[in-house]
Amino acid sequence: ALRAAFVPKAQKRNQRSWNYLQPQASYKVTILGAAGGIGQPLALLVKMSPLVSALHLYDIANVKGVAADLSHCNTPSQVLDFTGASELADSLKGVDVVVIPAGVPRKPGMTRDDLFNINANIVKSLIEAVADNCPDAFIHIISNPVNSTVPIAAEVLKQKGVYDPKKLFGVTTLDVVRANTFVAQKKNLKLIDVDVPVVGGHAGITILPLLSKTKPSVSFTNEEIQELTVRIQNAGTEVVEAKAGAGSATLSMAYAAARFVESSLRALDGDGDVYECTFIQSELTELPFFASRVKIGRKGIEAVISSDLQGLTEYEEKALEALKPELKASIEKGLAFAQKQT
Ligand code: NAD
Ligand code: LMR
Repeated sequence: ALRAAFVPKAQKRNQRSWNYLQPQASYKVTILGAAGGIGQPLALLVKMSPLVSALHLYDIANVKGVAADLSHCNTPSQVLDFTGASELADSLKGVDVVVIPAGVPRKPGMTRDDLFNINANIVKSLIEAVADNCPDAFIHIISNPVNSTVPIAAEVLKQKGVYDPKKLFGVTTLDVVRANTFVAQKKNLKLIDVDVPVVGGHAGITILPLLSKTKPSVSFTNEEIQELTVRIQNAGTEVVEAKAGAGSATLSMAYAAARFVESSLRALDGDGDVYECTFIQSELTELPFFASRVKIGRKGIEAVISSDLQGLTEYEEKALEALKPELKASIEKGLAFAQKQT
């Protein structure tokens, strides 16, 4: 009775903030690695989406409690838990979007590539299950090193005969979120207005913010460009060092991943105005995978925004050439790993 009396008034007072109580669509989302540092806050944010009717949480351990806890939120989606390899297939059947933050995070002094040996195997086995159980789903890969895990996923899907390059996304949204935050702070802009495309990959110098393409149009000094570019490239390490051994970015990553899930669901729902940066199979450069801004629609990637790479500044052109050898090596390492397994 208290709720019945309270909610309608609150809805009138603040309609927008209560919108997540009203179902608006019925998509199903699975999170693989849902009990982890990213998985838990991501599950909470996805639970708040009015576009989701079912939220499947899978992990190798500790997922029952997370699901029980989350299931008490009075938002539309039903939460189901799945533990261990024997329940993996059921967690994937009939879902529209699969998000993969499973794997180990960095500690201070490590590069993302240092995670390769463990995470490559985790991603490979999870993608095999995705291929067998929901080959049409959008797949969002968060597990690092993204520059290698996305090529691994592509190769595994190919081997299974179900690869659709329009539906495989490496999640680089956090780079855009960081770029937007740092630029807004530096130039005293309203956060909501700022949008910086970030291209390349997701590690060190392969992360290339195109500051000259910032919206709204902003002018930067050379010093500002250098400082902002390096800060955006090292932002993951900034968090790893601040956490001092307790892992890497989880909350900002969950925020970014939830934005990418929401964008995907809006695209699936027919919204014709969905644009995100993401690491994908690409023909934009000579590299077979490359992050760039894309338009997402019902069937996945509808268009790659090639104009972002036109008219770059000299600084950006140089940075683009400089990132290619490292990105190429990471892509090839992933492909070689997946090919050698067959
Ligand atoms: P975490 O250790 O807190 O959580 C990882 C979860 O994965 C754990 O719950 C673990 O049980 C689970 N897991 C391990 N093996 C699994 C398997 N085979 N199947 C299902 N689940 C499994 O780590 P985290 O902080 O959540 O980070 C996860 C990954 O995300 C790391 O690789 C990290 O580097 C990466 N990451 C990527 C970005 C990005 O921008 N793309 C940002 C932050 C972190
Ligand atoms: C990030 O950018 O925060 C992630 O890739 C995690 C990391 O290892 O830095």
